[in-house]
Amino acid sequence: MAKLEIKKYGDPVLRKKSDFVQKISKDIKRLTEDMLETMYSSRGLGLAAPQVGVSLRVCVIDVDPDKKLPLVMVNPKIVSGGNKILEQEGCLSLPEIFAEVKRFSNIAAEYTDLEGKNKTIEAEGLLARAIQHEIDHLDAKIFIDYLPDWKRKNIEKEIKRRKKKGDW
Ligand code: CO
Repeated sequence: MAKLEIKKYGDPVLRKKSDFVQKISKDIKRLTEDMLETMYSSRGLGLAAPQVGVSLRVCVIDVDPDKKLPLVMVNPKIVSGGNKILEQEGCLSLPEIFAEVKRFSNIAAEYTDLEGKNKTIEAEGLLARAIQHEIDHLDAKIFIDYLPDWKRKNIEKEIKRRKKKGDW
């Protein structure tokens, strides 16, 4: 396993729509192992392949990292959602930036696992939020896109300041 570099907000790969995975190859398995190591060592709860520079529909999630029972999703898709709620979230590609985003509080999602089996998961709370956040990455969407203009502009200013200081 290897720890990968996490691409930060501003990197064009985060704005590229990811391709469907055709086959669970060795490379895909290795990618998910490396993504898990990267996520755990960065203390994130989720990571999508574009965040490590790979435009493929793959993400890893673990909202309870002490237990190390990660969810690895290939070609994930939300199939239903209910009850939108506002909660704070962050992203490893935007370190130390947090904002409240409205998302479904419960969802059902379909995905393929590493054995190539099609699965359905029903999730609520933090896990539901994480799945929606990571699938957004695969569609080139970032959580601050949901914010009102003034809020997003403030965050972009803050990022510019940090870029200037070399802190980004
Ligand atoms: Co993110």
